[in-house]
Amino acid sequence: MTDNRYYITTAIDYVNASPHIGHAYEKIIADVLARFHRLRGYEVYFLTGTDEHGQKNATTAATAGKPVRQFVDDNAALFKALAPLLHLSIDDFIRTTEPRHAKGVKTIWERVAAAGDFYKKNYKALYCVGHEAFVTKSDLVDGKCPVHDSEPIVIEEENYFFRLSKYRQHLRRLFEGRPDFVVPASRYGEMLNLIDSLEDISVSRPVEKLSWGIPVPGDPSHVIYVWFDALTNYISAIGFGDQEESFGRWWRVSHHLIGKDINRFHSLLWPAMLISAGVEPPRQVLVHGFITVEGQKISKTLGNVIDPAQVAKELAAASGADLDVCVDAIRYFLLREIPFGEDGDFSRSALIHRFNADLANDYGNLLNRTLPQVERHFGGEIPARDEERGSDATLRETALNVAASIASYVDRLDFKGATEEIWRLLSAANKYIDTEAPWSAVRTDPKRAGAVLYNTLEAVRIATILLSSWLPVATQKVWEQLGIAAPLSEQRIEDATQWGRLKPLTRVKPGAPIFPRIESKPVAAPAAAAPATSHSGGQRVDTINIDEFKKLDIRVGEITSATRVPGTDKLIEVQVDIGGEVRTLATGLVPFYRPQDLVGKRIIVLTNLEPRRVRGVQSQGMLLAAEWDGNVALLTVEKDAPKGAKIS
Ligand code: ME8
Ligand code: MG
Repeated sequence: MTDNRYYITTAIDYVNASPHIGHAYEKIIADVLARFHRLRGYEVYFLTGTDEHGQKNATTAATAGKPVRQFVDDNAALFKALAPLLHLSIDDFIRTTEPRHAKGVKTIWERVAAAGDFYKKNYKALYCVGHEAFVTKSDLVDGKCPVHDSEPIVIEEENYFFRLSKYRQHLRRLFEGRPDFVVPASRYGEMLNLIDSLEDISVSRPVEKLSWGIPVPGDPSHVIYVWFDALTNYISAIGFGDQEESFGRWWRVSHHLIGKDINRFHSLLWPAMLISAGVEPPRQVLVHGFITVEGQKISKTLGNVIDPAQVAKELAAASGADLDVCVDAIRYFLLREIPFGEDGDFSRSALIHRFNADLANDYGNLLNRTLPQVERHFGGEIPARDEERGSDATLRETALNVAASIASYVDRLDFKGATEEIWRLLSAANKYIDTEAPWSAVRTDPKRAGAVLYNTLEAVRIATILLSSWLPVATQKVWEQLGIAAPLSEQRIEDATQWGRLKPLTRVKPGAPIFPRIESKPVAAPAAAAPATSHSGGQRVDTINIDEFKKLDIRVGEITSATRVPGTDKLIEVQVDIGGEVRTLATGLVPFYRPQDLVGKRIIVLTNLEPRRVRGVQSQGMLLAAEWDGNVALLTVEKDAPKGAKIS
C-alpha cells in the first residue's frame, strides 16, 4: 500500500509549567519529519497541542491561586507560541479544553461502553500526580516517586474501570503482526513484555474529588481519566465521529511521536481503547529519548529548565546571527547530536561548537568562498558549466549519492546519519574548491574558474534543498543569496537528485554571513598575556632579537588525555606528554574542539611559561594555536617529529 499521506502527531504537553528544551526537542523532530515528507511529495498533517485536564493541572492552578480555566489558558498560550518560535510547520494545534475534543472523547467513551468494556468498582490505590498514573509501592523510593520526588496520593473511591486485560490477545496479535509498530526495536520489546500482565485500569474520578475534566457521558458524577481524555486528541483533531472523510484520510497513516516515559499509554492502552471502540490502532509509535541539560536531569528544583527561546537569544547575541537562524541552529544541533531513541545532553558549549564548525565553517563559508568571486570576476552572474573533468564528476557523484540516500536515513529515523551525509557533501564541496582554487585559476583560465564556481554552487543548491527540513529559515536565506527564482518551499526531492539545475546567468545576491562565527576570546592556555602578535590585519609587530627568542622553550607534545573542566564554559584540561614529562594545561578550546578529538594530537607547547592557576587547574605551559576571525586551530608539526623535539 503506497500511500502518499503522512499524519504525524506529538505528545500534547501538560500546561502545569512552562515549555522546556525537552518539549522543544520532540516538536522539532516531528517538524523535520513533516517537512521532509512534504519535500518527498507527501500530503502531510502535523498535529500538536496541549493536555489541559487532570489533577496535575488542577493542583498547580490552585497552588498558583488562579482559577483553573484561566491558568490553563495562560499556560497553553506559552506552548502554542512554541510553534512559530521553533519554525514548526503545524497544520493544527489541539487543546483538550476545546469543544471539538470533548465531542471526540464522548464518542469514544460511548463506543467503549457499548462494547461492554466499562464496569464500576470500589478500590484503593496510590496515585502519582506527576505521572497522572497509579503507582505501586515497588515504584517508590523512600515512599516517594523517584521521577517527581513527591509522595503519591491515596485514592479510595468508586471508579469506572476499563477492561484492558480483555485486550491482551488483540495486542499480542497487533505486535506480532507489525514488528515496527513501536520503534526503536528495544521499545517494542519492552512493550511486548508487558502485554501478559496488563490489568484493568481506572478511567474516571468522582467529581467531588476532581471536577476538572470531561464528564462521563450519562454520569455527571464522574469525570474521565486524563489519559483516556488526552490520548483521544489524536482522533478528535481529525474529525473522529463526525467528519468521516477527513478521519479516514489521516488515521490510516498516523504516526505518534512521544517520549519514552509515556510509551505504555500509547503502545498498549491507546490501541486497546481503539480496538474496543471498533477503530484501527495507529500505524506507528515513535519513541524518543530524554534530554539532560549539562549532564543533569531537567528539573525545577535544580533550576535548569532551559527555555528554548532564551537559548536562541543567547546564541544570537554571541554570534550576531538572526534570531531565526539561531533557532534553526538549535534544531540542527539537537537532531545532529542525539541519535533518535537515545538520551542526549544539551550543553551550550556543544551547541556553539556545532554552530561554528558545521554551520559557520562548512556550510556558510561555502557561500563566502564563492559568491564574492562571482561578483568580482563574473559580473555577479552564475558562470557557465564547462566540459566535466574528473574532480567535477566526483563532486557531482557525491552530491547525487547523498541526495538519493537521505530519505532512507529519515525513514529509519536516523537524523544524525542524514545530516552526516549532507555534511559529507559539504566537506566534498569545500575540498573541491580548495583543490581547484578558482581564485588563482581565474587569472589564467577564467572559463575553468567559472566552471569550478558553478559546480561548487550547484553542490550548495542541492545541500540547501536537503537541509531545508532541518534549517527552514536559514536555508531560505542561503537560497536568496544564490538568487534562485523558484521558491525553496516549492522544491521537491527530485530537484536535489538532479545535477545541473542551477541556471547559469542567475544573478546572485551575496549578503552578510548567515552564520557569523561566534568569537570567543582567550583560547590558548592561561589566557596568556599575549605577546605582540603578527596578524594579517597588519598590526604593528614588535621585533625581538635571537637571544630573546632563545629564551622560549617550545616543544612537540602529544595530548594523552583531555577533559572538560566542570563549571566552566570553555576550559578543557589536557595532559601533554612532552617527551618523558607530562604537563597539565588549561586550554580554552571548548568552542573549537571536542575533548575526545584532541587526544592523540601532536601539538606545540610553550613549556617554560610561568605556571599559573586557571579556574582551579594548575596550568604548566601553553598550547600554541593560530587565531583568526574568532577561529582557532592548534599548531601541529609536519613529519613524525618525536615528543619533546625542540622548536627553534
Ligand atoms: O506526558 N526530554 O506531557 P508532558 C525529552 N500530557 N522529552 C521530554 C522531556 C525531556 N527531558 N521531558 C518531557 C505528558 N518530555 C502528557 C502526554 S499525550 C496524549 C499526553 C516529553 O508535558 C515527554 O516524554 O509531561 C512527552 O512526550 C512530552 O514531552 C510531553 O510531556
Ligand atoms: Mg511528563
